[in-house]
Amino acid sequence: PMRPDLTVQTAACGVRQSVLAVVDLLDREGLLPAGVAGGASGAVEGEICELVAADAAERQAMLQEAEGLPSLKLDEIDLHTGWHSQSVPIVLAINDAEREACVGQSSVALRRQVGDGSGDSQVIGLLHSVEVFAHQKRERCARTFGTVSSGHPSVARILASGDWLIGGELKLLEHIKWHDGLDHYRLTPRQLRARFAEMNADAVFAFQLRNPVHNGHALLMADTRRRLLEERRYRNPVLLLHPLGGWTKPDDVPLPVRLRQHEAVLKAGVLDPGSTVTAVFPAPMLYAGPTEVQWHAKARMNAGANFYIVGRDPAGLPDPDSPEKSDLYNPQHGALVLGMTPGLDKLEIVPFRVAAYNRSIGRMAFFEPSRRDEFEFISGTKMRALARDGRDPPDGFMAPDAWAVLSEFYRQQQQQ
Ligand code: ADX
Repeated sequence: PMRPDLTVQTAACGVRQSVLAVVDLLDREGLLPAGVAGGASGAVEGEICELVAADAAERQAMLQEAEGLPSLKLDEIDLHTGWHSQSVPIVLAINDAEREACVGQSSVALRRQVGDGSGDSQVIGLLHSVEVFAHQKRERCARTFGTVSSGHPSVARILASGDWLIGGELKLLEHIKWHDGLDHYRLTPRQLRARFAEMNADAVFAFQLRNPVHNGHALLMADTRRRLLEERRYRNPVLLLHPLGGWTKPDDVPLPVRLRQHEAVLKAGVLDPGSTVTAVFPAPMLYAGPTEVQWHAKARMNAGANFYIVGRDPAGLPDPDSPEKSDLYNPQHGALVLGMTPGLDKLEIVPFRVAAYNRSIGRMAFFEPSRRDEFEFISGTKMRALARDGRDPPDGFMAPDAWAVLSEFYRQQQQQ
């Protein structure tokens, strides 16, 4: 039977994706023999499949093969590879002309734009056993995001993309590099596992984020660590601080600024640098709420995490059609759905309720509805306003050096 590749680095896996969905379904129904489906059976451990050429000879052979093939140019978001998923499709859309060029071909070359402004492109990999199928855009959006509103940034992108999807067996010449000085943060699942082993971690707890770390986030991480040490008797739990590094919507803070901010938080000792691995999760943000969170969690499980922190409204955003800008997704559903997701048996979910600034004690604390008046929610918009006016957030909200990184960024943004 098929063995799903749970952790491949992939840019274009339409067919593989549908195969995986079927395998996952069979697995949920208990129809697969042990050792076939990844999550439930233990096949994941030690079986990370890297879809990258093994050596220079294979790369050379691939480049030669590419010369005789039609090629498809990938845009930046297609290149934000992500790790293989089951809850959200990772697919490559193509237009009519591209489909025409691929008709009757069993293989195509994938190319990316060279960053030197020449307009040239270079081969990055091959797709074999190609299949082209109709892009059910509205269905894809409705299932993934729970909305087909083009006010949702990912929905808008999908609706504007090609009418066809192409899938097949993907092989890259090498891992995608961005040459932005941050490639050393983009560790593969294999590299992460090796790092945890080097550190003698007996538990790994993962924190996915796309925002700067405030002390509320730190509270979630510190509390998880405390529980692992005191209640579960682990001796060396390691935190995987795993900011998402692909495309994010324009009002989110860019990756280089976030990484500087995270480093400042570690330097200030708000998080323990000795037991933390900071790495970048190379995927675009979809803003698909509870559906996306399942992918986020599963990818980290495959990278060696045993515990996954989830708090309020993960991967959420305001409903684009709501005049009050209310949350698109129920803020509790990310944690709730994750707790019920099949295939996450190697990963324990650590759910948290919302943290906010408590004025009476001068620090971030878990929100208590009965003492609502003591709490203040400090949003991204509020942070931007503080920075614009050259003001600081209340003491205890964020490490001062980390705030300095952010306020400088917001100030510069204001001037543009
Ligand atoms: S996410 O889109 O990557 O999930 P974000 O960076 O905002 O977004 O959050 C990272 C993690 O922290 C998520 O698990 C989220 O639920 C949690 N989180 C963010 N803010 C809070 C908060 N104030 N209280 C509790 N959990 C939070």
